Amino acid sequence: MEGMDLEMVEQVARLDEWVAEGDVVVLSGAGLSTDSGIPDYRGPSGSARRGSPMTYQTFTGDPVARRRYWARSHLGWRTIGDARPNDGHRAVARLQERGLLAGVITQNVDGLHQAAGARDVIELHGNMARVVCLACGDTSGRDELEARLSAANPGFEAVAATVNPDGDVELDDAEVAGFTVVDCGACGGMLKPDVVYFGETVPPDRVSRSFALVAGARTLLVLGSSLTVMSGRRFVLRAVRDGVRVAIVNRGVTRGEPYADLVIDAPLGVILPNLAPLTV
Ligand SMILES: NC(=O)c1ccc[n+]([C@@H]2O[C@H](COP(=O)([O-])OP(=O)(O)OC[C@H]3O[C@@H](n4cnc5c(N)ncnc54)[C@H](O)[C@@H]3O)[C@@H](O)[C@H]2O)c1
Ligand SMILES: [Zn+2]
Repeated sequence: MEGMDLEMVEQVARLDEWVAEGDVVVLSGAGLSTDSGIPDYRGPSGSARRGSPMTYQTFTGDPVARRRYWARSHLGWRTIGDARPNDGHRAVARLQERGLLAGVITQNVDGLHQAAGARDVIELHGNMARVVCLACGDTSGRDELEARLSAANPGFEAVAATVNPDGDVELDDAEVAGFTVVDCGACGGMLKPDVVYFGETVPPDRVSRSFALVAGARTLLVLGSSLTVMSGRRFVLRAVRDGVRVAIVNRGVTRGEPYADLVIDAPLGVILPNLAPLTV
């Protein structure tokens, strides 16, 4: 508990009690993965995010935007593909292993909960490590696609030498124009990362399974999400409606504050390893 003031020590002790009572549902966001080197959207490290996020409509309707997306993403993929779980992901997996969690719902698309050993994770927004064909519905691994993109674009990595370390790659129009996009190996249809874009809805079964988890929980524990998007915030609203208490651990403000019974404004890497310490 080094470095915490008295108020925070008390807050963590309270959260610790709630976690020890079990039936906790975790709702995680991008803030849980910043310690793994993946930038968030709205936190301090994500405030420099340029431009607006890709929408489903732009991706499917604008071939130039789509080519730009795949070119940038091909270069930036390793940031997510090579990321490793951090102490926060490991703490969540440990709580689950000890039977204290009723479920894990994540808005993240990086697969790091599972990489840390968590099971039955509901990936609300999908997973970047998968690719889906919009024509035939076939899903395949991102690594396989990366190999096909590399083969279709020999020397491309060398051309685009000025890669941003956070994977947010800037490319000029000429570099993008020379990039070849790859289509579905099964039917030739349009491929898309198996993630939910802005302008898409989360598949209803994921939402209903998540609502059911929250309704049956004792505590909804929000980890590293600004709760800006309704996609995640609705579970906080449901928890309040169902009388499920809400705890938030997040650096900086969130849109869940008015509904939360406990808010800890601190780094997850400091708080999570302190929860439910192994005393036996
Ligand atoms: N890792 C990923 O998979 C990833 C990364 C970026 C964005 N996204 C997508 O973008 C959307 C972003 O919404 P969101 O609410 O998840 O994220 P967000 O970017 O809106 O909010 C993240 C919050 O976490 C806080 N934070 C960052 N690092 C932290 C740390 N170490 N400890 C405590 N708090 C920390 C930030 O201050 C911010 O308030 C999601 O829908 C998600 O699908 C995913
Ligand atoms: Zn197909």
